[in-house]
Amino acid sequence: MERLEHGREIPDPLVPYLEVDRSTPRHECWVTGHMVAGLDGTAAIDGRVGALSTRPDQELFRRMRQIADVVLVGAETVRREGYSPIQLSAPAQAQRRSRGQSPNPPVAVVSRSLEFDWSARVFSAAPADARTIVVTCETADPERLAAAGRVAEVVVAGQERVDPAAAMTALAGLEYGVVLCEGGPRWLGELVAADRLDELCLSLSPLMGGDPLPVSVTPPGAGVARFGLKGAMVEDDTVFLRYEVAPPGQARHG
Ligand SMILES: NC(=O)c1ccc[n+]([C@@H]2O[C@H](COP(=O)([O-])OP(=O)(O)OC[C@H]3O[C@@H](n4cnc5c(N)ncnc54)[C@H](OP(=O)(O)O)[C@@H]3O)[C@@H](O)[C@H]2O)c1
Repeated sequence: MERLEHGREIPDPLVPYLEVDRSTPRHECWVTGHMVAGLDGTAAIDGRVGALSTRPDQELFRRMRQIADVVLVGAETVRREGYSPIQLSAPAQAQRRSRGQSPNPPVAVVSRSLEFDWSARVFSAAPADARTIVVTCETADPERLAAAGRVAEVVVAGQERVDPAAAMTALAGLEYGVVLCEGGPRWLGELVAADRLDELCLSLSPLMGGDPLPVSVTPPGAGVARFGLKGAMVEDDTVFLRYEVAPPGQARHG
């Protein structure tokens, strides 16, 4: 046991995340989850994440998108949070251009039902070089699929449901090597169950008593994924933890 103590100030909290080498993923692409939890593990308050997120968490959450080739989100989160296309700061865009990335990563939304307002900003306001991607399955409603195709790129990955491995193969095929998953808990749980989560950036917000929804909801029968702690930071009362999946052999249990 070691004591975690307040240490040297980190001038820019994004730097430890930018320095991670994500170039050699275990599978199709590197998948980073970024979530905030209350002290009791809750992932939302009254169906939204806003009241859970502290100022330093909100700031890091926005800036973390700089690491992403694509920002992947479950449909319910897009509907509830009213997602918009990603808009990074000018310096972040310049840094991405210098690395050969698009100035802003596109949003990719996972959905079976395709129940969306297709005029919503996440579709209508996406720039031509980062059009929103809809990731769905073969049994999706054909009319809604056609509507999706008019406002977004469509990726079909899986038959009755989106298969996480097939979805990651498709995203890797579109040259998206680093996938930043911003939830929600149900889609994140699918990625965990499919052993597709490489890294979890988890903010612990100093409150309790939100919705009975943990940050990851794995489907019944899924095994347990194990992670190793790679970094810890603190600002005010919010703790920022960075985990990577444990090496093969130690990664899963059950
Ligand atoms: N604490 C945090 O960091 C954080 C982050 C994000 C969200 N949240 C909160 O989490 C809540 C929403 O999360 P959630 O877990 O209910 O929903 P979610 O994971 O955002 O979305 C679930 C939806 O994604 C689609 N989906 C998931 N897995 C699929 C699969 N294998 N195949 C096809 N579609 C699939 C389905 O969409 P369709 O219904 O369209 O088929 C499903 O209903 C909100 O309250 C939000 O505020 C918290």
